[in-house]
Amino acid sequence: MKKIGILTSGGDCQALNPTMRGVVKGLENLFGDVEIYGFLDGYKGLIYGNYKKMKPMEFSGILGKGGTILGTSRVPFKYLDTPTEDGIEKVPAMKKTYKELNLDCLVVLGGNGSQKTAYRLSQEGLNVIGLPKTIDNDIYGTDMTFGFQSAVDVATHAIDCIYTTAESHSRIFVIETMGHKVGWITLYAGVAGGADVILLPEIPYDMKKVYKTIEKRRKMGKNFIIMVVAEGAISKELAKLPKKERKQKIAERPYPSIAYEIADILREKYKDTADVRVALPGHTQRGGNPDAYDRVISSRFGAKAAEMIKAKDYGKLVVFKNNEVTAIPMEESAGKLKYVDPEDQLILEAKTLGISFGD
Ligand code: F6P
Repeated sequence: MKKIGILTSGGDCQALNPTMRGVVKGLENLFGDVEIYGFLDGYKGLIYGNYKKMKPMEFSGILGKGGTILGTSRVPFKYLDTPTEDGIEKVPAMKKTYKELNLDCLVVLGGNGSQKTAYRLSQEGLNVIGLPKTIDNDIYGTDMTFGFQSAVDVATHAIDCIYTTAESHSRIFVIETMGHKVGWITLYAGVAGGADVILLPEIPYDMKKVYKTIEKRRKMGKNFIIMVVAEGAISKELAKLPKKERKQKIAERPYPSIAYEIADILREKYKDTADVRVALPGHTQRGGNPDAYDRVISSRFGAKAAEMIKAKDYGKLVVFKNNEVTAIPMEESAGKLKYVDPEDQLILEAKTLGISFGD
C-alpha cells in the first residue's frame, strides 16, 4: 500500500484541484490501492500534523473547479528556520509528521518559495516531488506553470471589457496586471487584448516613449489608449538605483500601486486633453475555474508525478520543456526566477506590430 502526502502551498491558482486529481487518478490506476494524506492549508498542515486521510474519490469531480480543496497558506522560505509563534521548529516538525505517517512521498503543488521549501525537505531526506504552480509563470526550468493560461484569459477578458468603454469615452486606461516580479501575464494578456503600450519589470520604461505612442495614435485619429502595466513595472530612473534604494523608493511611493502613479503622470502631462482611468483585475486573475489548456497541462503534470512515484524518482520538479512533460532535479530550479527575456520572440513581434514597451 502506497502512502502519499499532498499539499497546496502559496498563492492559489485555478488549476490546483485538477493537478491533484491528476496525481491521485494516476496513482489509483498505477497502484490500485493508495492512501492519500491531504495536508490542510499548505505547509502549515505538515507542520502541525493537520491532515485528512482521503479516498481517491474525494479528488473526483474537481477537474474544472478553481481554488484548492485542501486550502493554502504562505509559509515564507526565509522564515523556515524561525520557529512558529507557538515555538514549533518548522523543519523538524514537518519531518516528524512525514515520518509518523510513514509516507512514501510528499507531493508539493507550489510556486517559487514553496518549491525552495520542497527542495529543503528533499535535502533533509524526505521523498518529495514538486509540481509547478503559479499564475506568474516564473518558475525556472519550466516553459509553463499551471494557472498561467487561465490567468491570462481572465486578464485578457478584463482588457476586452475596458477596451469598449475606453473607446466610447476616448479615455486613456492604465490596466494593471499581476505577475509579482515578472511580466509574463502582462505580456500575453497585453498582446491578446490589443494593448498600445505594455510595461514590464524586465524592460524599464521611459515615460517620454509612452507619450510618443499616445501622440502617434492621436495623430492617427485614435483617441483612446490601452496601457497594460505589470504590477512590478519600473521606470528607467528607478532601475538605475541600487536595489536597496530602489526598494525603499517603491515602498515610499504615495500611490497604492504603479498604475496609479503612471495615471497621475499622464494626467499631469495631458491636463485637460486626456481623461485617464485605472483598472485592476486584481485577484480575479487567480480566481474562477481553470481553462481548457490548464485542465490538460495539469492533468499531464499529475500523471507524470504518479509515474515518478511508481519509479521512485524523487527530489524532482515536474516541468513542461520543449513541448514535453518531463522532470528536472529540484536544485536546478530552486531559488531562481524565470524572467521575460527582452529579446523574446513575442516581444520582438509585438514591437513589429507597433506595441510600445516604453523603451
Ligand atoms: O504569485 C501569485 C500572485 O498573485 C502574484 O501575481 C501577486 O504579486 C501575489 O500573488 C499577490 O499575493 P496575495 O494574494 O498575497 O495578495
